[in-house]
Amino acid sequence: MAESMRGLKRSHRCAELSKEHVGQSVTVMGWVQKTRNTGGLIFVDVRDRSGLLQVTFNEEKLGKEAFDKAYRLRSEFVIAVTGTVVEREGGINKNLKTGEIEVVADGLRVLSESDTPPFPIEENSKTKDEVRLKYRYLDLRRPDIQRNLMLRSQVAVIVRQFLAEEGFLEIETPILCKSTPEGARDYLVPSRVHPGNFYALPQSPQIFKQLLMCSGYDRYFQIAKCFRDEDLRADRQPEFTQIDMELSFVDVDDVIDVNERLLAKVFKEVLDVEVPLPIPRMPWAEAMERYGSDKPDTRFDMELTDVTGVVRDCEFVVFKNAIENGGSVRGINAKGQGGMPRKKIDSLVDFAKDYGAKGLAYIALQEDGSVKSSFAKFMKEEEMDSLIAAMKGQPGDLLLFAADKNKTVFAVLGALRLELAKRMELIDEDKFNFLWVTEFPMFEYSEEQGRYLAMHHPFTMPMEEDLHLLDTDEPWEARAKAYDIVLNGCELGGGSVRISMNDVQEKMFKALGFTKEEAYDRFGFLLNAFKYGVPPHAGLAFGFDRMIMLMTKSESIRDVIAFPKVKDASDLMSEAPNLVDDKQLEELGIAIDSTEKTAKAEE
Ligand code: AMO
Ligand code: AMP
Repeated sequence: MAESMRGLKRSHRCAELSKEHVGQSVTVMGWVQKTRNTGGLIFVDVRDRSGLLQVTFNEEKLGKEAFDKAYRLRSEFVIAVTGTVVEREGGINKNLKTGEIEVVADGLRVLSESDTPPFPIEENSKTKDEVRLKYRYLDLRRPDIQRNLMLRSQVAVIVRQFLAEEGFLEIETPILCKSTPEGARDYLVPSRVHPGNFYALPQSPQIFKQLLMCSGYDRYFQIAKCFRDEDLRADRQPEFTQIDMELSFVDVDDVIDVNERLLAKVFKEVLDVEVPLPIPRMPWAEAMERYGSDKPDTRFDMELTDVTGVVRDCEFVVFKNAIENGGSVRGINAKGQGGMPRKKIDSLVDFAKDYGAKGLAYIALQEDGSVKSSFAKFMKEEEMDSLIAAMKGQPGDLLLFAADKNKTVFAVLGALRLELAKRMELIDEDKFNFLWVTEFPMFEYSEEQGRYLAMHHPFTMPMEEDLHLLDTDEPWEARAKAYDIVLNGCELGGGSVRISMNDVQEKMFKALGFTKEEAYDRFGFLLNAFKYGVPPHAGLAFGFDRMIMLMTKSESIRDVIAFPKVKDASDLMSEAPNLVDDKQLEELGIAIDSTEKTAKAEE
């Protein structure tokens, strides 16, 4: 039978008690972690979000009735205990924050009973993800997840405090919007009042924050929910949170400066980690050349080497064709891996193929000076020698080469570099390596659409040096005043200086193939606002979930979000999305194809 709180008041959280409290009478409340019964004594570990506390129930002291109640306690019962803090008799438990003390109970109330939970509530649970997420409310009781969410809250507080001190205003922007231009698929919400019309959930507050700049708010921020209907990965969710900001009368350096200081403060206060400022910067083109990635993990070397010049005249068709088709040949040197068994090398080739490679050529330099290679037979000896020299190959090294269009070569070697570093355990997991990647290309070719798209978004300002390119028919090489902040190979955030000059914006739309009408149809309210006095402005958004994921070294973004979605974007606990009443659909003027409907329902 559950009892009420009447007359009771919690005095401390469980793990707030320590030796200092010895002799005091306290009241704690929480969940039963486990019970041990040794005849006249019952030991109960009580858990709340602060941690565990041992409580002892002694029949003599408690009386029979209360002792019987203690005897019936089971895991996850919610109890209130009053008692006295004493030094532990049975020896100190060093694994526990409260390991030096215990509470000897003189009162017990059972506030709620519990069914046997489907999995034990404990740290580093081995329970399958599907079960954890179905019972997320229980999973959320686990101490590691609780620590993550407490850290998340702490970061949010520091961010708000820092940005307020820097003169930022926290302003909310709408969730029911017109489509925003971040390039993913929109989530749509049907309008009842305007049948056939839809709102889009914001992919980011991009347009609204630019409008706020036009309205003179100067420095805006928001911890904003964003929605993107894209394929989920370990670091992506369909709804996620950004620390979003925009500043007026600034240029690249101003945005970078305030955000570096924000990061340094958060990492210092929360993790006691010093972030050396300024954070290094690297132009996008250099990041691609050296790491094959626009978000390089700089915790280890193994950089790419361009050997196109070295193999230009060789007879190996794979290299020859790639170069003739405007591509390149590049390699990485996996130091000390020359003895890798053939099977493992083949698994690297398969890995490369997953990233679009047609193959992966290798030279395995043996310790005895001999060479194993998949393409030596096509090469002259001196060509092999100069290739090995260009790669700084030493006996015992494994040299891996990709030959293709640059985009493929970078994708393959960039991914291979990370994979090898993992296998070779080259990554120092204690490091936090920040890097600004700057000077992104303005445009990116989409094979799918057969045309160029804005790499960041269509309001991104070109670098002054490249503005003249927008006057030509081939502006594709223009670089943008766009920047990403990268942490340990993960894109933590990104932003840009926006176009505040009408003529530049028009050229940009033209390059992207928008007619004036199309541009106005999509972004008219922003373009109109720009007619009435627009300050130069720039901004950035951090992926808040990713930040917490990296700070807590979580493997999945789900471990830092209270109620996350799984790969197919559903919520296993509430079973969203679900079918709705025909009446609701009727009101919205929506008819569903009945075959589609049953397909989902039967899943
Ligand atoms: P961008 O699209 O780069 O920029 O997003 C900013 C940051 O948000 C995080 N992020 C995600 N996190 C989790 N799940 C997702 N699906 C997801 N998508 C993005 C990333 C990313 O770096 N409006 C611009 C910002 C600006 O220009 O000011 C924007 O949204 O960490
Ligand atoms: P092949 O003559 O097709 O057997 O190829 C010889 C070697 O070149 C094999 O090790 C292939 O994996 C490798 N190879 C094939 N295509 C490429 C490519 N595009 N880049 C690098 N290596 C390749």
